[in-house]
Amino acid sequence: MEQYKLKLINDFVWLRSKVNFDFIFEKDTFSDDDIVRYYKKNKYLFYRLVGSKNGEMHIDISDDGIHRRGVKYQEYHEEKISEILKDDPQIKNVLELGSGQGANMAYLAKRHPDVKFTGIDLYPTLDKKNKKYDITLIQGDYHDLGMFGDSSFDMVYAVETLCYSQNKNQVFKEVNRVLKPDGLFIIYDAYLNKKRNELSEIEEVGAKLVESGYYLNQFEYVGNISRYIQNNGFEIVKAENMKNKVINHMKNYQARIKRYLKFGPLFTLFCKPFPKEVMGNIVPVYFMADTVEMDLSVYMSHILKKQKS
Ligand SMILES: C[S@@+](CC[C@H](N)C(=O)[O-])C[C@H]1O[C@@H](n2cnc3c(N)ncnc32)[C@H](O)[C@@H]1O
Repeated sequence: MEQYKLKLINDFVWLRSKVNFDFIFEKDTFSDDDIVRYYKKNKYLFYRLVGSKNGEMHIDISDDGIHRRGVKYQEYHEEKISEILKDDPQIKNVLELGSGQGANMAYLAKRHPDVKFTGIDLYPTLDKKNKKYDITLIQGDYHDLGMFGDSSFDMVYAVETLCYSQNKNQVFKEVNRVLKPDGLFIIYDAYLNKKRNELSEIEEVGAKLVESGYYLNQFEYVGNISRYIQNNGFEIVKAENMKNKVINHMKNYQARIKRYLKFGPLFTLFCKPFPKEVMGNIVPVYFMADTVEMDLSVYMSHILKKQKS
């Protein structure tokens, strides 16, 4: 058996001996209400406490892929989008799908005061300190962008949110409609690197461990994305497999969990007040390093352009 699959099994056995995480498998599917409940509970207790003080809810990335202690890596996505805005001053109207706590828009609005930002999320929030920026929040489902007219945005971006969609073709169709010709669609997200029906039993468990802890129904096979791009009138400006830029940061999170769990009963006592929606995060954060290392999951960035019809 390949070495990474063995590692996944060993890690599973080790983590299960420290924490009983069976509860993450209680539900087979997650509704929008479940997703909202997950983000309500995790907004502060997980994403601010463990991740970013500014409210970013996405993974760490760096171009050199090196993890240095004490350095924050959560602003990578915003920096890259900011560079695109800097390069093209014609971009004035931007939509973020799944804007979460609005941290990405706040970062960008601060640096691009002449750009108008709109965020749509099932549960959108924005810190008081960021209300001074030109940011509009809309509570809604990004599968239906009917509140926006055709060709109303110069750019749409989506950071780690389309993984929740079980109908990405519809999202691509809607984004194409609301984008101006030549408008950009930027996506950062994780996918399965293999078709679901071709996964071995161990791989299926690996995928489920990451999906269930994040209240995700199913990661999509990465090969489907090119179909959505072509079918919906986009061309690829850049597509990148970011494995080397994310893997060491993921391994760092895995090592942190290992360190915490060595405290045994003390750690269990510390965790007692946390609800299961929060505790369940231990599982995907722990296993993501394994699934990306073994190329079962892939983290990609896409810069797409709406073709002129
Ligand atoms: C991992 S968070 C990412 C938040 C933000 N993009 C960021 O980078 O910090 C995923 C977000 O997608 C939102 N979401 C999931 N499904 C959605 C849907 N169908 N429509 C709108 N938002 C959705 C969730 O509510 C959550 O805020």
